[in-house]
Amino acid sequence: MHLYDASKPLLFALPPETAHTLVSRGLEAVQGTPVEDLLRERYAVDDDRLATEAFGLRFPTPVGVAAGFDKNARIPRALAALGFGHVEVGGVTAEAQSGNPRPRMFRLRPDRALINRMGFNNEGADAVGARLDRTDLPHVPVGINLGKSKSTPLEDAPEDYRYTYNAVADAGDYFVINVSSPNTPGLRSLQNRDALEAIVDELQDAGAAPLLVKLSPDLPGPAIEESLDVVDENGLDGVVVTNTTTERPGSLQSPSQAEPGGLSGDPIEERATGLVRFVAERTDVPVVGVGGVSDAEGAYRKIRAGASVVQLYTALVYEGPSLAREINEGLLDLLDLDGFENVSEAVGADL
Ligand SMILES: Cc1cc2nc3c(=O)[nH]c(=O)nc-3n(C[C@H](O)[C@H](O)[C@H](O)COP(=O)(O)O)c2cc1C
Repeated sequence: MHLYDASKPLLFALPPETAHTLVSRGLEAVQGTPVEDLLRERYAVDDDRLATEAFGLRFPTPVGVAAGFDKNARIPRALAALGFGHVEVGGVTAEAQSGNPRPRMFRLRPDRALINRMGFNNEGADAVGARLDRTDLPHVPVGINLGKSKSTPLEDAPEDYRYTYNAVADAGDYFVINVSSPNTPGLRSLQNRDALEAIVDELQDAGAAPLLVKLSPDLPGPAIEESLDVVDENGLDGVVVTNTTTERPGSLQSPSQAEPGGLSGDPIEERATGLVRFVAERTDVPVVGVGGVSDAEGAYRKIRAGASVVQLYTALVYEGPSLAREINEGLLDLLDLDGFENVSEAVGADL
């Protein structure tokens, strides 16, 4: 029996956020100890065929941890030791925020999904920046997801993002403008052309690079194209698709589907993969594919649809710590089957 098979019933008996905190604290406790090396030996797959390049960074494997899992940058090395090829920490906001009242994270077990309305709970840019500066960072890229403080009016968003960027600038390998979380009022309106351009200008002026934008799956086609115009015209380095959705597919079984917030996991997989393809067809910049990735086949579908790297969050809750290894090993088999030398050859194979 695997470790997670034994501990999952206990964790699932706890409220989801409590379980998450417990797991994070556990990983934090072993980070930097010999146990971290044991985790790496057990879970990390070291194979050059898995390595990819995007926006000037080398990713040892294409599977990373999506934003929100490590909001305060406490466990990037432990997550790398579990075999993830990059870790996107945050969302970080300029101000420390407690987020929305609990409960604010819900398991939809039959749907292998989550709904969250965390509302950017995080310790704030100064604290997270200081932690990053004193932490030994992993040997995989660390991205930083930049959010907007709730109390900052939308028209002041550019300065708010800039403040956060300045506080975390030294530690990040790439930076993501998150204008797509559904749980900060009005945030998603910042995806429109003028608002996004103002944020991009401000961050580029501050020196943020590589700089990516993360988009919502709820944007209609023309609005995505408008955001992609900004990507092209303003020289952004990549696009992350997608964030969670406020829509509720008719297929959902769990009663928790009625909870307000962003849905993630299995039910958004197809939509997210479709958007990876849509974006990859319309831009020349690398695409980071996220949404419902839970196995090698799903990761491979996003890669073939144009994702240079993929990320996941929800499946880690359901599958546990061996997930990155399973995906990485499975990807090697899938590459073999299709006669690809390495992951890079498979990127966009379906376009
Ligand atoms: C509890 C929770 C918190 C999240 N927080 C953030 C966040 O702070 N910033 C962000 O860009 N995305 C956040 N996300 C979205 C994920 O990064 C990801 O885009 C989404 O969950 C889809 O991937 P998945 O289906 O693999 O979970 C969060 C997701 C969850 C479940």
